[in-house]
Amino acid sequence: MIENLSFNNVYNIDCLEGMKYLKDESVDSIITDPPYAVGYDKKSKHLAKMDKARGKQIERDKSFDDVNPEYELLSKEMFRVLKKDSHCFLFCSDKQISSWSDYMIKAGFKQPQILIWRKNKTTVDLSFGYRFPENKEIILFFQKGWKKLNGYNIERHLFRSVLDFPSDGNTEFHSCSKPLQLLMFICKLSTKPGDIILDMFSGSGNHLIAFKRLNRRFIGFETSPVYYKTIIKRLKFENSQTRLEAIK
Ligand SMILES: C[S@@+](CC[C@H](N)C(=O)[O-])C[C@H]1O[C@@H](n2cnc3c(N)ncnc32)[C@H](O)[C@@H]1O
Repeated sequence: MIENLSFNNVYNIDCLEGMKYLKDESVDSIITDPPYAVGYDKKSKHLAKMDKARGKQIERDKSFDDVNPEYELLSKEMFRVLKKDSHCFLFCSDKQISSWSDYMIKAGFKQPQILIWRKNKTTVDLSFGYRFPENKEIILFFQKGWKKLNGYNIERHLFRSVLDFPSDGNTEFHSCSKPLQLLMFICKLSTKPGDIILDMFSGSGNHLIAFKRLNRRFIGFETSPVYYKTIIKRLKFENSQTRLEAIK
């Protein structure tokens, strides 16, 4: 049982449970990466084999049907905790676009803009010639009310709906971790130092580290005890470092 959530911290609980402790309109921005609901457990023996070969602990995503009902609750909670004029960035898979959009709009958000993170390489090719190999990921950009992006503080040529960032290929901490540079870019577009950012699916902790390096305050949730311990360790290490990004 948590009394109060403290900033710059991650909690080893289900995000829907954790969000109950957040007050209405208390968060400046959400930048998060929910499970892609690809149903690895049911579908891909190939991926399971690869994980085993790499000796990695992978938290299996629930199947698409399993996570579907939570979209509605999460969408309502995200709308509730966000401040009046604010942003929400959700990474998602192709097949999640319509579910997330429907539930988020129903919760009160505006129609999302689809942002594309264009990678510098294709991910493991599981298309077997039936689909196009993937070299992108989708980020749904939702608005609660109207809030301008801090676009003018950032190099203008990067300020586009297609975001070119190399995948840093670092899966040391999590198989789905997103590159720090991309996360820091989004964070700068949406928030200012001191703002409160929520990441409900913290994984490797990369989002939280990006927020920390930019002097934002944050709250993270992560259900896996293994990833949770990794995040705690990484945040401790971050605290012991003086970063150039934080001075900017
Ligand atoms: C796609 S990964 C996030 C990876 C992250 N973007 C990164 O850069 O490392 C989703 C994470 O959410 C966690 N998760 C799944 N369901 C959750 C829930 N209900 N509450 C909190 N965390 C959850 C999983 O354990 C997984 O680590």
